[in-house]
Amino acid sequence: MDLPDLPSPELPDAAPGIRPRTFDEYIGQETVLAGLKISIEAALIREECLDHVLLHGPPGLGKTTLAGLIAGAMGVPFLTTSGPVLEKGGDLVGILSRLAPRTVLFVDEIHRLPRPVEEVLYGAMEDFAIDVVFDRGPAARTFRHVLPPFTLVGATTRAGLLSAPLRDRFGIFQDLDFYRPDELVRILLRSASVLGFFLPEEAALEIGCRSRGTPRIANRLLRRVRDYAQVKAGGEVTRNLVLEALTVEGIDDLGLNRIDRKVLHTIGTVYNGGPVGVDALAATLQIEVDTIIDVVEPYLLKEGLLARTPSGRRLTEFGLKRISGTLFQENRF
Ligand SMILES: Nc1ncnc2c1ncn2[C@@H]1O[C@H](COP(=O)(O)OP(=O)(O)OP(=O)(O)O)[C@@H](O)[C@H]1O
Ligand SMILES: [Mg+2]
Repeated sequence: MDLPDLPSPELPDAAPGIRPRTFDEYIGQETVLAGLKISIEAALIREECLDHVLLHGPPGLGKTTLAGLIAGAMGVPFLTTSGPVLEKGGDLVGILSRLAPRTVLFVDEIHRLPRPVEEVLYGAMEDFAIDVVFDRGPAARTFRHVLPPFTLVGATTRAGLLSAPLRDRFGIFQDLDFYRPDELVRILLRSASVLGFFLPEEAALEIGCRSRGTPRIANRLLRRVRDYAQVKAGGEVTRNLVLEALTVEGIDDLGLNRIDRKVLHTIGTVYNGGPVGVDALAATLQIEVDTIIDVVEPYLLKEGLLARTPSGRRLTEFGLKRISGTLFQENRF
């Protein structure tokens, strides 16, 4: 049986139309897609809800998009919320009890759910029921509130922060990885055609190589390149124009931005190459610890510029070489 090619519901985006609306438009992550499609097809054959799905990966790799595509392919309603906005157990009970049957409920940043909310979620995920307690002490009574069956799709940048009971209640666990330059080229060519301008492939490759393996960054840089081309070159994008535009944006040949370079330089100069604890590093740089862990370091680790050791972060030989090459001309960030 082929999956029905129903589009996902419209999700808000910085540039409408760029976000893929069907699995066919979703580029890369083949292993993730293959696994999900099998589970979706099986659930459709059995006419059941899809098992709960946990999507893990750095920001901007397509978790929210994928959650929408799952709902689209299942042909069910899609509802989104996020960990930090659900403050009390009651907030979640309210949402769960009003769900249409088989809804895909997307909880972004699920590692940031407060503990009491998480506890409501355990029962809801496992038994599609919530035990509500009335009164206290000897007069306490519980009432079992039966819920419509639903699929929870959780997204997290940090699976390690999920408590074991919550993690164990997901039947499907998928890890999204950084995209290869050729995949980013395909994404960029599609985005340029949605935005209605011509992007030569060599120019797309130049953007793709400097996008930290991340579609959101690739699409953002594409829009900056389009602006630059409009103002400086009557709208014509060439490889050289991309290089100029990205230099103006502060993006270097590895795709590192000012914050990435600042992190590398600080470890190199202030901490002699490390190791340095992430708290000390964050305090020195006046950046949030979470920003370093979620946004900055995954790509630096992947590129082999940075290493994580039990005593903290340190520059690798490549990292040291990289900053020594630019140390003198680059102290302005
Ligand atoms: N596989 C893909 N193919 C094409 N475009 C993609 C793909 N993945 C992501 N994008 C584009 O990148 C943008 C960011 O994706 P999305 O919002 O789904 O990321 P995310 O993983 O949810 O990020 P965050 O963790 O910050 O919430 C989308 O608007 C979409 O246009
Ligand atoms: Mg998201």
